[in-house]
Parts: sequence; structure tokens; C-alpha cells
Amino acid sequence: MCGIVGYVGSKTAVDILIEGLTSLEYRGYDSSGVALNIEGKVQLFKAQGKLQNLRNIVQNNYDEISKSTIGIGHIRWATHGVPSVENAHPHTCNCGKVAIVHNGIIENFKELKAKLEANGCTFRSQTDTETIAHLVATKYGETKDLTEAVRLATQEIEGAYAIAVIHQDVKNTIVATRRNAPLVVGFGEDENFVASDIPALIKYTKKAMYLDDNQIVTITPNSVKLIDIDNNPKELKIETLPWEPVALSKMGYKHFMLKEIHEQPDIVRNVLAGKLRTMDAPIELNEVTLNKEKLKNLSRIQIVACGTSLHAAMVGKYLIEDFCGIPVDVEPSSEYIYRKTITNENTLVIGVSQSGETADTITAVRQAKKKGSHILIVTNRPDSTMAREADSLIPVNAGIEVSVAATKSYMAQLISFYLLAIYMAEVKGSMPKDEVSKLKHELILLPQKIDNILTAKGDIQKCARKFANSKDFIFIARGVNYATALEGALKLKEISYINATGYTAGELKHGPIAMLDESMPVLSVLMKGKVYDKILSNAEEAKARNARMIALTNSEDFKLDELFENIIRVPDVMEILSPALAIVPLQLLAYYIAEFLGKDVDQPRNLAKSVTVE
Ligand code: F6R
Repeated sequence: MCGIVGYVGSKTAVDILIEGLTSLEYRGYDSSGVALNIEGKVQLFKAQGKLQNLRNIVQNNYDEISKSTIGIGHIRWATHGVPSVENAHPHTCNCGKVAIVHNGIIENFKELKAKLEANGCTFRSQTDTETIAHLVATKYGETKDLTEAVRLATQEIEGAYAIAVIHQDVKNTIVATRRNAPLVVGFGEDENFVASDIPALIKYTKKAMYLDDNQIVTITPNSVKLIDIDNNPKELKIETLPWEPVALSKMGYKHFMLKEIHEQPDIVRNVLAGKLRTMDAPIELNEVTLNKEKLKNLSRIQIVACGTSLHAAMVGKYLIEDFCGIPVDVEPSSEYIYRKTITNENTLVIGVSQSGETADTITAVRQAKKKGSHILIVTNRPDSTMAREADSLIPVNAGIEVSVAATKSYMAQLISFYLLAIYMAEVKGSMPKDEVSKLKHELILLPQKIDNILTAKGDIQKCARKFANSKDFIFIARGVNYATALEGALKLKEISYINATGYTAGELKHGPIAMLDESMPVLSVLMKGKVYDKILSNAEEAKARNARMIALTNSEDFKLDELFENIIRVPDVMEILSPALAIVPLQLLAYYIAEFLGKDVDQPRNLAKSVTVE
């Protein structure tokens, strides 16, 4: 949520900043800006809307702008103040010498603003960030030392932040700091970098250092100095990143989302590789460091997550309870953190997050950690803030996900939960061996079945066209696929802005059925198994209210043709594994509807990929 990047060296700063912001676009895209020191004067260039608007401004002033070899840049996801040029970062102080970019939320900004205004500061934006610019300028006036000014300013700021600051009078220097928001420093030859995330600097260097909370870094082309909030010098812990420069290529697909949907068969293969070797060998999950005796005696598991990751967690709950008989609670992190939770050292707490930077989930796992729980993190970013809180870390290995709507990371999370639940069942001995072998066998067959769905995507495209002009959409399912209905609905509303809701099919008649008429599509996730007949009955009830009926099914039953106007078929699969297949057509349906409606599929309005504010 908001991306920041800073460069100091001898190259054209703006090129590196814009390239960095391009790779951070997933963090926000409602406005952007850069601050550059051009021939001794700090100058700002800002634009509302997509990054392309900033690129155009830069292009029009390139002769002048390209002289600068130091600057900071920002891509915004609005929290305080509408997306506009005046609210776009960087922000500056009265004299215009300080420029600052910020990711996070300053919780006491109203008090700070009142104090600063009383001291003569004039605010030009509605943002909380501008308070930091004035505060740093005030402290600089007192100390004439930028690092000290930032250090003193952070002592007055409450909330979450990653910031980078330049000052006109402090040549070739960027000062940056963080608290509960990610920040990484990149080390080059006669040049250094700072950014919210690795993709912004990986093209230039693999040497990097993640800042800890409350550390302050002072960066020049030839030096990086680190201190803590009490002004104690800290050792630089430089890591060599195992990353390759990220290929942000759509590989011929129209959108990243479509490309990422198509990557799913390989992702399933990747996640299984090395862990599931043969039908008879136990699952190898060395990442789980929880002692096997403790694992056998676990009385409770709590899973915390948000959005799509929460839906993966719901499937995880179903699997662990079914395979291992351990009670599992799943809760949105944003709820977990504001109530009295019964979490203690006998609880295993699992945090699930694609980005590993979701503020609510980070807070939730930190709270659980304080209570002595073992923390298991399931994430696509083993280098993230959340991963660093983990006692056990399961990287899901989906690769960088560019599209804001999560697809392949959901698949990787699901498969990771299958492996975890089977691993736990094997440790506990809670499942008959032949059932475990059958599950493993079916897991290995999944990638081919997903491939088959992708090959037949033309049918889903036709269905999408037929229903694209619907104002509302209902998804119903039961059991392990309730999460599939929720995730299908979430995908559709995120990228097409159609009001879509997922219900357990049994709940339909307890209220939502009132909404049904001939204009309402009802999509039933109808997988063969324990709840098939029940969902069919619920679908009949919807049909009796004239709803437009769509089935997503692995059944060949010819009676379905009478009940459903559209049938999307998936290959046969065990019911317990069906969420991993059933979600694929729903991702495609959402994609094709949004594409047909001409929506901005990869960067839907109001959203950001990494939600680093609570
Ligand atoms: C939906 C989506 C979001 C995220 C949610 C949590 O497509 O991407 O709902 O799932 O913001 O993010 P992570 O998984 O990064 O914690």
C-alpha cells in the first residue's frame, strides 16, 4: 500500500525512480510523484491517476529533470485525502527544501498538525504525511542535521510508516526509516537505493538490507549508516538476495491476471515438488519446526488472514479438522486483533498472506507470539515482515503475482494447506494409510486437470458474455467449497464491480432468497460428494424463484440440463480436493466478465495488492 523508492548515485535518478515505481505499482496507483534535487534545488513532479501520467510529465521536462542524480519517488493508495495532485507525494515544508515520501498512516497527525500550524506551518494537502515534512523541517531548523531531524521527528509520530526524506541543503543524502511498514536498502557501486520492496532495486543490485522497526538509515552514494531510535550505531546486515530481476512480462497474455491463472498447473507441480515424493512416503515438511510431540498434542489451531488468503484459510480449517481432528478457528485478522482471544502457548497460530505485509495479519501474529503461541506463516514472500515473525515458515512459491486480484497465490496457498493437513495427519496417525495414499495420488493428478479446464476456457468466456450485464450475482456452495463460493464472488466484485455475494447454499432460504428473480444469476458450486444432493435441492429452490441458474460441476447427470441454463464442467475430482479445481473456472468467469466490460483488470479501482494499513 503505497510504494516508495529512493536513489542516490551518479546515474539519472528519475529513470531509476520511474522504473522502481513501475515495479511497485501493485502497491497503489491512484497518483504518483518524484522529488529530485536538480542543480541544487529540490523540485517536485506529481500526477493524479496512473503512473503513465507521471511518465508523461517527466518526458516533457526530461532535459532538465535528467540532470539530477538523487531523488525519491512514490506511488499512492489514498488513506487521508482524495487522490489528487496536491495529495500526491512527495510532500514538502513551507520553505520547500524538505521532500518526503511515506507509506503508512500517522495516527496522531491531527494533534501534530494543530501544533505545527500554531508554529506557522502552512498545509497544502489533506494528507497525514505532510505533517512529517513540516516536523522534519522544524527539527532540521533546530539541529542542522537531517538524520537527527528524522530521528527526533519519529519520536513524536505515532502509527505505521516507512519514509524517505531529502533536504536541499544536505547534498547527495537520503534519510529513511520505518515502523510497521516495509523498507529495504540496496547497496550498489557508488550508488545506493531504498525501496518498499525488492522488485524496485533488484535490477541494480542483489545486495540488500531489511531495516528493522525504528532504525534510521542515512544513505549517500558511497556510504550507508544505520542507527536506532536512541542514536546507537547499528551493524549493517547485508544479505545477498536469491532473486532474479523480475520479468514483469505478460508473456503474450492480454493481462497479468490471465497469465497468472494459466500458471496454476505449474505452480501446483512446484508446491508439491520435493514434499510429496511417492504415495507411500510421508509428506516432507521440514519447514514446520514445531516439535512432533507438541504437534500431536495440539488442542487448538487459529488461522488469521484477510481477503483471498482468508478463503484459503477456510479450506485449510476444513482439511485440518477432517484429517487430524484438531479444532481450528479461522478469523479475519482485523477482527482477531481487537478482541480478547483465547490464544496461549498450546495454540498453533497460522498466519496466511500472499504479500506477508498485510498490516492486520502482522499485528495478529505478533499478538499471538506475545502469548507464547507457535507461529506458522504461509506466505508467497519469505522475505516479508510477516515471514520474519515466523517460528515455522511455509513459502508457497507462486512467484511474483502482479495482478491485484489474487489467483495463483490462492492456488499455492490451497496446495500448501493440503500438504500441511496431510503432514499433520501422518504425524498424528489420524488418517487411514490407504486414504492418505489416495489423496496423494489425486493431488498429483491436479495439474493436468487444471490444464484441461484452461484448454476449455472458451465455454467459460461464452458464459461470461451472457451474464456480463448482470447487476448482481449470487454464488452458493456447501462444505469445503463454501470458501470457493466466497472467493468466486470476491474475484467477480473486485474486477468487474458487479455486486457478487457467496452464501452457504443452506442459508439461501433464510433471507437472500428474497432477492431472487429473473434478473439474478445464481451459480451453484456443485461437486459430487456429501453435499451434492443438498445443493441441488437449494438450486431447485432458486430455480422456483425464476433465478438464472448456472452450475459449476463435475457431474455428468443429464438432469442438470433441465435445471441449469448454463453448465460449466470440470474434470472429476475427490470432493475434498475440489476447491483447487472449482476455483479456476470462477477466476476465468470473473476475468472474462471484467474484460468484456472493459474494466482495468490488473489494477481495479480503489484496491492495492499489499494492504499495509490497518
Ligand atoms: C483479493 C486479494 C485480497 C488479498 C488481501 C490479503 O484478490 O488479493 O483480498 O487477499 O488483501 O492480502 P495478503 O494475502 O497479501 O495478506
